[in-house]
Amino acid sequence: MLGAFWRDILARLLDVEGLTFDDVLLLPKRSGIVSRREVSTKTRFTRRIELNIPIVSAAMDTVTESAMAIAVAREGGIGVIHRFTTIENQVSEVIKVKRADNIAIEDPYTIGPEATVSQAAETMRRYGVSGLLVVDRGRHLLGVVTHRDILFQPDDALVRDCMTPRSELVVAEPSVDIERAREIFREHKIEKLPLVDSSNRVVGLITSTDIVKRSMYPLASRDSKGRLMVAAAIGVKEESIDRAEALIGAGADALVIDVAHGHSEMVIKTLRKLRQMFGDDVEIVAGNVATREGVEDLAAAGASAIKVGVGPGSVCTTRIVAGVGVPQLTAVMMCAEAAESMGVPIIADGGIRGSGDVVKALAAGASTVMVGRLLAGTDESPGAVVVRNGKKQKIYRGMASLYAMLGREVRMNSDDMEPLLDASEYSYYAEGVEAYVPYTGSAADVIRQLVAGLRSGMSYLGGRTIEEMRKNAEFIRISQAAVRESYPHDVERV
Ligand code: XMP
Repeated sequence: MLGAFWRDILARLLDVEGLTFDDVLLLPKRSGIVSRREVSTKTRFTRRIELNIPIVSAAMDTVTESAMAIAVAREGGIGVIHRFTTIENQVSEVIKVKRADNIAIEDPYTIGPEATVSQAAETMRRYGVSGLLVVDRGRHLLGVVTHRDILFQPDDALVRDCMTPRSELVVAEPSVDIERAREIFREHKIEKLPLVDSSNRVVGLITSTDIVKRSMYPLASRDSKGRLMVAAAIGVKEESIDRAEALIGAGADALVIDVAHGHSEMVIKTLRKLRQMFGDDVEIVAGNVATREGVEDLAAAGASAIKVGVGPGSVCTTRIVAGVGVPQLTAVMMCAEAAESMGVPIIADGGIRGSGDVVKALAAGASTVMVGRLLAGTDESPGAVVVRNGKKQKIYRGMASLYAMLGREVRMNSDDMEPLLDASEYSYYAEGVEAYVPYTGSAADVIRQLVAGLRSGMSYLGGRTIEEMRKNAEFIRISQAAVRESYPHDVERV
């Protein structure tokens, strides 16, 4: 005879069956959608941040630094700059995103007139810009110096002797709007338009490339000042509070408390502390969790969005090492149900292998998906392309993989792990692997394919919005034979 306690445990065991993306398909629904262009992929990243597409790039050191965050934000999603570096480096990555294709740069890079050509070249190289404003100590505009001006000058020539002087510059007042700026660029055939106040002090800069880019990326995620949006990850150690302050100071639009076990006292404590410091002014994402209780506790502590996923990632071994996790589709469903009543969006993090999984994750209740592997092989991920066996590849690694952990210990000597006596012991703690992934070209192409597939899924489900799609969604469970049937089969692929 089973005791009541064990009956209860067994009943609970049998009740909850964990399913993931390949276990299900969505039923096609009657649809009035004629063209896939009719659907809107607008969604929420956090309580207050809206996005035009539900794609978020993972906070991993082989996925998201400024180049990736810029690419994802231009397409309408958002990138999370990883935290596995010094505060200074992470802040500088955030600043690079904030300065990329914004309408007016508020604090343009400047140089003094007595600087040399080689100093100017070094400053331009360091900040990745093609020109500098030349100012005196009071930031009064004296001229502009560009790459072209210094190209054939000796290294020790002075900036003041090769710049375009103030008398020949076209400038505008700080309140100039984008249409007027466009006219000025057209009329004067210039590339840089400094903004100066009535005493000729520099207060901003508009560049022609930024204006062009603005029309090239109509869906881009922008803040209230027109700058690209970016999120940045933090941990839960002491230094995380300083990190959070520095990142917000640099203009990060959201903080992401990024730890493997998000349903922990440390995360709740950090979240509460940040809420005390910033009030409601800052969007704070927390995770990862995979249960209702996890969502409820993080939402109660003030999370603006909750990241869901314990072990589904392509380079994760948590489930093998720790025996812990929830298959991702079930995790998203349970968590989304709990989050809905609290008005907190869910980010489905890990295990997304293509657009079909994006559709399923959103239909299951997520508002966005976080992707690592799918973006790790692109031009914009950190790291070089390597050629192996004649194929172009990039390296992708779990942040709890052996080499990622060892690298951090050497670089920063701080993380969310217990300090260990001997580096070799890390191998016992690894919960991720290092891997090669195929080189896949530009991040924009990968993202556009995901969004095209999402639009297709929405039209099969008759949903003009993600919300509508979710309401119409009905999953069916499928057999292994059906999984095989879903992929190309019985043909020799060319
Ligand atoms: P994908 O499937 O897109 O997943 O590659 C990316 C997500 O994987 C998580 N991640 C890890 N999980 N060990 C883990 O168990 C790790 O070393 C690790 N590194 C990353 C993370 O949530 C990421 O967004």
